[in-house]
Amino acid sequence: MYKLINKLLDKSNIKQVLELASGYSSRGLIYSQKGYNYIELDLEKVVKTKKEILNGIESDIPKSLNIISGNALRKDDFKKLKSYLKPKEEIAVINEGLLRYLTFDEKKMVAQNIYNLLSKYGGIWITCDVNPKKFIDSQDKALPKFNNSLSLITSRNNLNDRFEDINHNKKLFW
Ligand SMILES: C[S@@+](CC[C@H](N)C(=O)[O-])C[C@H]1O[C@@H](n2cnc3c(N)ncnc32)[C@H](O)[C@@H]1O
Repeated sequence: MYKLINKLLDKSNIKQVLELASGYSSRGLIYSQKGYNYIELDLEKVVKTKKEILNGIESDIPKSLNIISGNALRKDDFKKLKSYLKPKEEIAVINEGLLRYLTFDEKKMVAQNIYNLLSKYGGIWITCDVNPKKFIDSQDKALPKFNNSLSLITSRNNLNDRFEDINHNKKLFW
């Protein structure tokens, strides 16, 4: 999925990225070094740790990489991004591994925030977070106990929060 998202991003030719729930992904570091204006948004603790890690391995975090703490569900946290965005440039919004852990009401809040941003700047949304319920079956075969442990640790990853199928995806996002 990581490589597929990179491929779609490259193909889009958009050079300004907002990656939500970026975690410890290296994409922001790699693309900001290629000259992209790259903004990452994640929860405070993760952002703090990521900056510590990057400061430990890189002499300088590239100026065009901004790692911001915030909640993808909150409108006000999206407003904070304005000062990091180039106003006349389209944005590619990316998220990988966020929506599957959210309830449908929460998924809608994230989608609405992205919609508002893209309505203003233009651009695209690239996400792989649309796995249907049946994906769990194949994941359980490949990684036995993974989903169970994840649900126990996080109190998330609930089967009821999964999409039924592609039509269910379309109903929420279209
Ligand atoms: C499964 S990890 C995926 C990280 C990264 N995208 C990757 O593929 O390696 C989920 C990430 O979502 C972040 N996260 C969870 N809820 C969030 C929220 N409401 N707003 C922003 N980030 C959130 C977590 O802190 C974590 O870094």
